[in-house]
Amino acid sequence: MADIDQLAQALQKINTGEISGGEARRILENIDPVDLSLAEQRLIEQGTLPHELRGLCAAHLAVLGSELEKIKVETGPGHPIHTLVSEHDDILSFLDQLEEVQGRLTGLSAYDPSNKDFETLKYLAGELVEAEKHHAREEDVLFPEMERRGITGPPRIMRLEHDDLRPNKRHLLELAEQVPNLDYEEFKRDLKKTAEFIIFNMRDHIFKENTILYPAALKAIPEPEVWERLKAEADAIGYCCFTPGYLSEEKKGGSTEKMQVIKLGDLPITTSPRGPRIRRVLEEPAVAITNVLLEPGQELPAHKTPVDVVFYVHEGRGSIIIGDQSATVAAGDLVFSPKNIPHGLLAARDSSLSVLVIKTPNPTAKN
Ligand SMILES: [Fe+2]
Ligand SMILES: [Fe+2]
Repeated sequence: MADIDQLAQALQKINTGEISGGEARRILENIDPVDLSLAEQRLIEQGTLPHELRGLCAAHLAVLGSELEKIKVETGPGHPIHTLVSEHDDILSFLDQLEEVQGRLTGLSAYDPSNKDFETLKYLAGELVEAEKHHAREEDVLFPEMERRGITGPPRIMRLEHDDLRPNKRHLLELAEQVPNLDYEEFKRDLKKTAEFIIFNMRDHIFKENTILYPAALKAIPEPEVWERLKAEADAIGYCCFTPGYLSEEKKGGSTEKMQVIKLGDLPITTSPRGPRIRRVLEEPAVAITNVLLEPGQELPAHKTPVDVVFYVHEGRGSIIIGDQSATVAAGDLVFSPKNIPHGLLAARDSSLSVLVIKTPNPTAKN
């Protein structure tokens, strides 16, 4: 095991930006995920507030992103692990939003029923409580199968973490519902403590599952027919309201014939492993649509995609780079990129850029 104190010092420097870019990436890539969790915990013991580790979380995710994409491609939509990883993406976006709302609400001096943040808090707490079905599929379907095959340590720790998180999530929802009747100063203290506990521990929990538990499960359970059985057991437990539609039971068998009206503005915004903010618009076997939102001057670094991609510029101005060619684009423009050629996006210095990235077929779908 690495020296946790040394590691904690390095992480502190990455978090503050003293170490960045390639060097930060190299350090993070070489850290064992368990050591990483321990070092983070050490920083918190030494007085770093959980929300101050955000820079680190973004750095983790950048390293993690390609590994997770690999898991999604290997498993494909409908596979129990693919569903769990996709649900984690949504839970992480709820945590980002909770962090922002908590900050704003603790900045107020009194309860204000016209402030929409109170409704948002209720909605987010409700979604986190709803994630219980995700944990139940892990505890009742995935973990027992891993335990039968001799992997007992990680599932036990994950169960304990679920147990720690559960009452806190319920308490958050209670706070959100009861705020009109509470002393506001007391509400703020309780909200800060509860939200920070959930945000830090749930991010850490998800990180461990994505990097340790799920890869271990895929290795320990090689038989496709066993995953079929686990899928049926997971279906019986049910899915969360935020589970991507095509993965859930209701959408099996013909629901793709149903009309779907998607309002971009209503979709949650998450941070992509590559850096920019994104909205997951549509995931079907034949097509995957993502809305990439770049701030002025921000770029989506060049990367390859194993399928053809159409970029539709929804708002703003910038450049689209395909291979060694670059074009200036504005709202209404459409650019086609053949598969396996590096492509990237860059917002103009004085304009944000919103692009719909349409991949066809969906590269994470199995045919
Ligand atoms: Fe879990
Ligand atoms: Fe999970």
